[in-house]
Amino acid sequence: GITRHYDFTISRGELAPDGYLKKSGILINGQFPGPLIEANWGDMIEVKVTNNITGPEEGTSLHWHGMLQQGTPWYDGVPSVSQCPIAPEGSFTYRFQAGVYGTSWYHSHYSAQAAGGLFGAIVVYGPSHVSYDVDVGPVLLTDWFHKDYFDIVKNIMSTNQTLWANPSDNTLINGRMPYNCSLVHDGTPCGNASYSQFRFQTGKTYRLRLINGGAAGMEYFSIDGHQLTITSIDLVDIVPYNTTLVTLGVGQRTDVLFTPKANGTQAIWMRTLQSGKYCQRAANPEGRAVILLDNAPDTAIPTTTAWPPPVDDGTCKNEPLQNSVPYYAETLPEPSITYNIVINSIINATGHQLYTMNGYAFQADYNDPLLLLANEKNYTYPYNPEWNVINFGQNSSIRIVIWNNNTGPHPMHIHGHDMYVLYDGNDTWNGTIVNPQNPQRRDTHNLRPHGWMVMQYNADNPGVWPFHCHIAWHLSMGLYVNLMERPDEISQYQIPMIMKQTCDNWQQYSSTNV
Ligand code: C2O
Repeated sequence: GITRHYDFTISRGELAPDGYLKKSGILINGQFPGPLIEANWGDMIEVKVTNNITGPEEGTSLHWHGMLQQGTPWYDGVPSVSQCPIAPEGSFTYRFQAGVYGTSWYHSHYSAQAAGGLFGAIVVYGPSHVSYDVDVGPVLLTDWFHKDYFDIVKNIMSTNQTLWANPSDNTLINGRMPYNCSLVHDGTPCGNASYSQFRFQTGKTYRLRLINGGAAGMEYFSIDGHQLTITSIDLVDIVPYNTTLVTLGVGQRTDVLFTPKANGTQAIWMRTLQSGKYCQRAANPEGRAVILLDNAPDTAIPTTTAWPPPVDDGTCKNEPLQNSVPYYAETLPEPSITYNIVINSIINATGHQLYTMNGYAFQADYNDPLLLLANEKNYTYPYNPEWNVINFGQNSSIRIVIWNNNTGPHPMHIHGHDMYVLYDGNDTWNGTIVNPQNPQRRDTHNLRPHGWMVMQYNADNPGVWPFHCHIAWHLSMGLYVNLMERPDEISQYQIPMIMKQTCDNWQQYSSTNV
């Protein structure tokens, strides 16, 4: 493989992807969404990230969601775990292998910056188990908030939370969707915005790489009048199956094939509906994009009607596990340990609502990345309980049974691995494993409200790996644990100097900003 170089400069800027002005966002090279990263399977990806965020200054970091960072946990991009934040005016070069192929994305892992626009798509090209004519590339589905992420997080961190479960203002497809300006009552200028457009030919088959890169809302994607064939979930190819509605929790990706039919229409709506706090669909504005067929004029606006929506049972569940079967089977090993996690929400002593995993809400310590502590002081170091470290020692395959004692869903994401998803339901787990011969694998699974989930992963990647809810606000409220894997081998790592330099730079920055 070769090395793919990218140069990202991160800065604050105004943006109005839906026509509503006065929204400040965080951009890469002036773009929203950020630039597409492309590589072939096996290539190295090298990204130099420069932090030019001003007014006010902030730290930053980028995480390469789904990239396994096999043997390079210090490039995982999580401040407080794998590095210190990249200080203002500082830069950091990430270098890792595209060791898996398919559709993914990157995003800031610092505060809720991703909700301010700091994300983009990753496509790693590899062999395909299905055939199609055209790779359309990423189709990013994202909720969009007119309030700045900073204000939302500040509100969430206050004793008077009012915003954390608020519906979003809009839903964007590839960063666009006209806002209904008649809803603006605060005098903010609101003008014309355009739909994303796709030009397709009838009879050809297109591969769409759907990505839920939003902050909070599940996405339900469809194309009027057409079945879609699901071929991959996250970075795992599956035995293809058809559906009219594709469900994506935050952080999840689904590749679909789409073959437009000639039926007298020139244009078709592509749609994505979002769920709200209690999982009801359509609680937020629908995102739409225009599909133009054959020689339709650029100005054609579809008049097609949506599929009748399937029954909304308010559970925010993923597709049933038995529907998605990995195309390349893997044998499930016997777990060497089974660990239970209970997710709760609490009001702490100062009146803040937080989420806990086994009683603790995670609190980031930007000055002490856990990987560095494990490397230098080994695992006997007395971790602060609020760093939520579970040390799995030398265990080779780790099963985790999770119960969600909340009324909201949690898209749970593991770093550094794919996980086998063995069970998903609202009934107490009785040991049943779905497809035990070849269980589903992926890196993010939506845990239902008052639901159970059982996952397992192979400890083949020594490091400290976050396992967390991907809803931006829940992350800020502590719904996060760190899975420590093979600490003896972590202590053998030669961690590159540039990772340690992020800490020197960050400490200098924070000590001059007291
Ligand atoms: Cu895409 Cu820790 O997340």
